Amino acid sequence: MANIWIKKPMEAYEADIKKSELKRVLGKWSLTAIGIGAIIGGGIFVLTGTGAYYNAGPALALSFVVAGIACVFAALCYAEFASILPVEGSAYAYAYGTVGEIFAWIIGWGLILEYAMGSMTVAVSWSGYFAKLLKMFGLHLPYWMTTDPGTAKKAFGEATRQIANGNLPTDKLQTFQETINNFNAAPEIFDMKIFLNLPALLIVLFVISILIRGTKGAAKANNMIVIMKVSAIIFVIIAGLFFINVENWTPFIPEATVITENGVSHSAYGYGGIIAGASAIFFAYVGFDAVSTQAGEAINPKKDVPFAIITSLVICTILYILVSLVLTGMMHYTDFNPLGKYPDAIKAPVAYAFDIAGQAWAGYIITIAATVGLISVLMVMIMGQSRIFLGMSKDGLIPKTFSKVNRETGVPTKNLMILGAIIAVIASLTPINDLAHMTSFGTLFAFTMVCVAVWVLRVKQPNVERSFKVPALPLIATLGILINVYLIFNLSREAKMYSTAWLLIGFVIYFLYSKRHSKLQKEGYGETFKAEKIPLEDIDIDIDNKK
Ligand code: ALA
Repeated sequence: MANIWIKKPMEAYEADIKKSELKRVLGKWSLTAIGIGAIIGGGIFVLTGTGAYYNAGPALALSFVVAGIACVFAALCYAEFASILPVEGSAYAYAYGTVGEIFAWIIGWGLILEYAMGSMTVAVSWSGYFAKLLKMFGLHLPYWMTTDPGTAKKAFGEATRQIANGNLPTDKLQTFQETINNFNAAPEIFDMKIFLNLPALLIVLFVISILIRGTKGAAKANNMIVIMKVSAIIFVIIAGLFFINVENWTPFIPEATVITENGVSHSAYGYGGIIAGASAIFFAYVGFDAVSTQAGEAINPKKDVPFAIITSLVICTILYILVSLVLTGMMHYTDFNPLGKYPDAIKAPVAYAFDIAGQAWAGYIITIAATVGLISVLMVMIMGQSRIFLGMSKDGLIPKTFSKVNRETGVPTKNLMILGAIIAVIASLTPINDLAHMTSFGTLFAFTMVCVAVWVLRVKQPNVERSFKVPALPLIATLGILINVYLIFNLSREAKMYSTAWLLIGFVIYFLYSKRHSKLQKEGYGETFKAEKIPLEDIDIDIDNKK
């Protein structure tokens, strides 16, 4: 009789580590660059306006502090786990050894939201930046080549309706007419109009072509992109300093009030606004945990993975706080009102702030940085997803194809190709933008579970060797759980609804497929793992050649 709470014993992890065909090529700084590569993306350039106008005002910097602290709690817990279990499955693997198979499965399933869905979202926003970049150089991609069919049909329907209703101001009429013309200009096959987001499709294929060559090359490319995007952010901070008007920071925490827009009201500013702002900009922090998915390829994983998780997070938190201070100093937070005098400012707040300061050239630098920078987010996200699938496949919870590692390159080629094909097709044909919040759901869900799992393992296995230990664990884990759950509740209603549905589908798949194919269930390491049966402290998982 299968036991859905079965736990993977440490000796099974040890066996996995010894058998692993992945190449250990990542040093301390490459791992840190992987963290930064995944964290800094479109989030910081886009969400800051929303957070400032709708939530926190100039105190947006404090929202970044709050979200950063929430991430640090989770990061410390990830770091402790990584120091014990240097395997590739991240939160999924940690849960399998501590809270049981069904939990591990659902976390792994939830991580698809973070990594695979995150990749699709990033591919689509990359396409937007790329189109903008081409426009700067006078090149224009046709509408049908940059728009998915769902979005195109919706926009066409809306434009037709608006024009039929009449009474439109000239500029609106022109925009809607343009949408209709763009729709009609799309090529047809068998009377069906063709729409696809071609840049999103191509960038995913490009990233896959780098990833299948091996982790060393991918890490080199990532390192270069990270140097470039961190330089761009530092540049924004320094250049922005010259255009700060300190009066824009007063009052730093605006009095709590209610904002009403299109008949919908919500409370803003004050201390509550700082917390709500933290939820709003959380996406900008998504990614540091990707370092833990690379533990199977780290040269000295027990020490370097914890180091890289924490260092990448701390570096990005400092940069984010400075960017938000500069931004709200350059522009008054009320100027990000989409119904105000700068209606477009909220869409690209950082570039816009420079535009208003008469420094449009900075917008070019930001667009270039975001376009190139997003490639490394995509790279790390897809790499992370492939390694999580690798871990799940080795355990038999998903098909075996995902665990085949190419001997020459040391990466799971088939796994990457299947993933790449799925991500590319969905990103190019689906209106994925609406679902971006689901990425934050998957991430926060995993963070919460890691805080729980690290605590469980500390209680059950207090003596196992940990090269990194979370200080004041009960407090940090409790705060981590509370903040992450709170942030989940603050996500949009749709994100919570769709993500819950996703998890329910996951349970069905578990009972129909995964439980039946689980290696642990079949080979049976006995019943539910009992600590005293397999003394962890006797097991040596020293793969980092330090002894
Ligand atoms: N943190 C990443 C971004 O902001 C996902 O794009």
